[in-house]
Amino acid sequence: MTRTIGYIVGSISSTSINRRLARVLANLAPQGTELVEIPIKDLPFYSPDFDGEFPQVAVDFKKAIGDVDGVIIVTPEYSRSIPGVLKNALDWSTRPYGEMSFFGKPVAVIGASGSGVATAAAQQHLRAILGHFNAITMGQPEGFIQDRPGLFTEDGQVTDESTAGFLSGYLQAFDGLISRVQHSAELVNA
Ligand SMILES: Cc1cc2nc3c(=O)[nH]c(=O)nc-3n(C[C@H](O)[C@H](O)[C@H](O)COP(=O)(O)O)c2cc1C
Repeated sequence: MTRTIGYIVGSISSTSINRRLARVLANLAPQGTELVEIPIKDLPFYSPDFDGEFPQVAVDFKKAIGDVDGVIIVTPEYSRSIPGVLKNALDWSTRPYGEMSFFGKPVAVIGASGSGVATAAAQQHLRAILGHFNAITMGQPEGFIQDRPGLFTEDGQVTDESTAGFLSGYLQAFDGLISRVQHSAELVNA
């Protein structure tokens, strides 16, 4: 059986280094696990005015989260927090009221930045938001990737062995968390 992990890229930049990182993760996925993108760029700005009738793109977004075994959020840091496009997507995920898409969902966070802080501040904010959603967020390993020219190629390869090893271990750890969550659910439902 194939396990499916969704990934959300918190950047809509056409030259996003975080999208490159996501491609690398997709290429390093453990055997039997497939990574698929959950796109956010076409979501309109959320407003309660939509609560009566969700646009199809938001229905699809919530369904995509529901359909996968876990979600990796790959995000840049903007102004020491997460980009607005990602926050907008997360807001959509919480509505309609009482239908939080991330409730009980295994989630891992990771990000790349050229700066030394390597998205640490953004990830702390993101973890606080995910805690409110009651998502099951992977604590370790933390994914603070300091980008440098040539680290990630356009076709989703990583040129540095130690980074490749770290990212493979990161994916295996998340796969393990998903297995434990699914096993616990089976025991509860037995
Ligand atoms: C509006 C804006 C705010 C930014 N704020 C931060 C920041 O707080 N910390 C940081 O490390 N980099 C910051 N950066 C630099 C980003 O890390 C860098 O642009 C990175 O390439 C963005 O990720 P992306 O290429 O995946 O879009 C900021 C960039 C922009 C455009």
